[in-house]
Amino acid sequence: MAEKNNRLVDISWKEFDKLGPNERAPYFNDNGRVFHALLAQQFDRPALDRLCDLATNIRKIAKSKEGMQFLQSLLNHKRVMFYFTQPSSRTYLSFCAACKILGMAAADVRDAATSSEMKGESQEDSVRTFSSYFDMIVMRSKTSGLAEKMAWVLANSERPIPIINAGSAQDQHPTQALLDVYTLERSFEHLGGVDGKSILFVGDLKRGRTVRSLSILLTKFREVTQFFVAPKRFQLKPDSQKILKEAGVTFELSGNFERYVPKADAIYMTRVQDEWDKKPGQSRKSDIVKYHFKVRHLRLLRPHAILMHPFPRREEIEVDVDHDPRAMYWRQMRNGMWVRVALIATIFQCDTEVLAYYRKHLG
Ligand code: CP
Repeated sequence: MAEKNNRLVDISWKEFDKLGPNERAPYFNDNGRVFHALLAQQFDRPALDRLCDLATNIRKIAKSKEGMQFLQSLLNHKRVMFYFTQPSSRTYLSFCAACKILGMAAADVRDAATSSEMKGESQEDSVRTFSSYFDMIVMRSKTSGLAEKMAWVLANSERPIPIINAGSAQDQHPTQALLDVYTLERSFEHLGGVDGKSILFVGDLKRGRTVRSLSILLTKFREVTQFFVAPKRFQLKPDSQKILKEAGVTFELSGNFERYVPKADAIYMTRVQDEWDKKPGQSRKSDIVKYHFKVRHLRLLRPHAILMHPFPRREEIEVDVDHDPRAMYWRQMRNGMWVRVALIATIFQCDTEVLAYYRKHLG
């Protein structure tokens, strides 16, 4: 079972707050194993490989009634709290389904207006309150760094339970990146996996937290080239570019969508994140249409290439493209549930039990 994470006790919040993501990441792991899942930087290549293999084993186990009963027995003594104060369909529901697969009981707060925050309670006190009743918190927030702060707060409390970041402001969405990597690995299973591939990101790369997290995870693979295609105002932020430079990754920024489509093994489309606009409608400019994937672009797409999107989608991918076998976004969504089961099983250290079951019954 998940054990007390001690490292965060050894550092004051003031000291911790000064650290960059690379320096923070090890504090969220315990003996090299993920405890809080808050940053893409926490996952090295062996951890990613283990997680993907575990997700695949779990989905095979879940195909039989006996297998599902086994999975549901693993964490039926644990309770999970979903604290989602920003809208979500996929992340929320796939986490709900993942926890159900593992037998966990769940409750949620999906609107701060229904919690005592409306009476002036701080978010810190709210989260500490949740930790009194639950064994894990999955949270999405528009407040930058809140999940990390809460991890520190809980580590220094009587109930140091794990926190999973299900989307944090414009910072990161690490579990989306995990499911994206899993989708890429599965799609290129017979083509050497993610290593050596070229990934094209398109859309609002400045504010898209899924792009930031996936771009970091891709640095863990060998010789992956990253292309970023967007209007200048939505181009990748300098801090993300710095991460790529420091990792020695080959990457290019461009405004020319059609030039890059034939170069990519995977295209990762994203929507304009206009919920972050300072003035309503500020992002609405007609030039974004040049960055939409239309049916006519299918002929430019390499035969083995895949088209991804974290969703929700607006006009970034024409609906008629959905029929093409290279459209991977619906499978990507389902992969999210399995990878989240694998992540929770890893956090609560029942991954070895899963692997033993797999070897005995399906290996
Ligand atoms: N991909 C994703 O985070 O979707 P939701 O906002 O619906 O959770």
